[in-house]
Amino acid sequence: MKKAILGLIGLGLLGGAVNVMASPESDRQEMIKYYTTKYPNIKIDDYVYGALAFDADSKAQYDAIMEFPPYESVLEKGKKMWETPLKSGKTYADCLPNGGKNIAGNYPYFDEKAGKVVTLIDAINACRVANGEQAYKPGDKATTGTLTAYMRTLSDGMLMNIKVEGPKALDAYEDGKKTFFSRAGQLNFSCATCHVQNAGVRLRSELISPAVGHTVHWPVFRGGDNLVELQTRYVGCFKSVRHISAPAGSEKLNNLEYFHSYLSNGLPMKASVFRK
Ligand code: HEC
Repeated sequence: MKKAILGLIGLGLLGGAVNVMASPESDRQEMIKYYTTKYPNIKIDDYVYGALAFDADSKAQYDAIMEFPPYESVLEKGKKMWETPLKSGKTYADCLPNGGKNIAGNYPYFDEKAGKVVTLIDAINACRVANGEQAYKPGDKATTGTLTAYMRTLSDGMLMNIKVEGPKALDAYEDGKKTFFSRAGQLNFSCATCHVQNAGVRLRSELISPAVGHTVHWPVFRGGDNLVELQTRYVGCFKSVRHISAPAGSEKLNNLEYFHSYLSNGLPMKASVFRK
């Protein structure tokens, strides 16, 4: 019952048919249907470009910049971090599944034993701690940011593949969904107010991106050199509507990332990208 109600105040608001059997997959389909009905000429595959999907001129500029990305030295640094053995002598590749290749699209996942969502950064930190190092701080550009900017390139082209299986995983997903649709802050905006209802619309001077496609291309380099992680972006967007956010790495933002990532299932990963 609880889930059905959240479905109604959440995606049901989009004007689609009321779906009493709300499930992550029907949520995703309903959201895609909302966008493609509103913008029939834009392919869902192009949503990985965010707001650029709605602006051909900016997309052309982006393509030119991406031919010689201005942030390559950061990727080089990240590669060194990735290859440097931890205190135990093991590397990240030794302790992550599949040597860390083609796995980024499986994160976040719900860890049944731990009873919580595990992001890629959590998995990297678990590997660090198990091998005698201290955990890095989520959102820190010089550590998690630089390392994942390189590490995620090892998953380029993998399709996002988030799984929500079992009642506890569904609870975490629903919690993230609630955060996404809850209006808050002095301006009383939710993530959905901007990234669903106003996707493709200019708000102040900025063209707003759709939520589908949001999670496949992190971190981003804003202005070419300012590294921003996904959850740092959440905190920034919360701030823009004068809403105090939980910090990067908190259960609340991890659950938000879990829901948000599910929406991009089936879209290809691409790290890292330029953003304005
Ligand atoms: C007042 C409107 C507004 C609200 C509310 C808002 N955002 Fe944003 N968001 C923006 C704008 C503007 C940008 C920059 C342009 C763009 O890429 O959409 C942005 C960018 C983003 C991006 C980066 C997109 C990319 O491809 O680089 C993500 C991810 C994001 N927002 C997620 C969220 C989430 C999650 C929430 C809720 C916690 C949220 N936003 C709330 C306006 C908003």
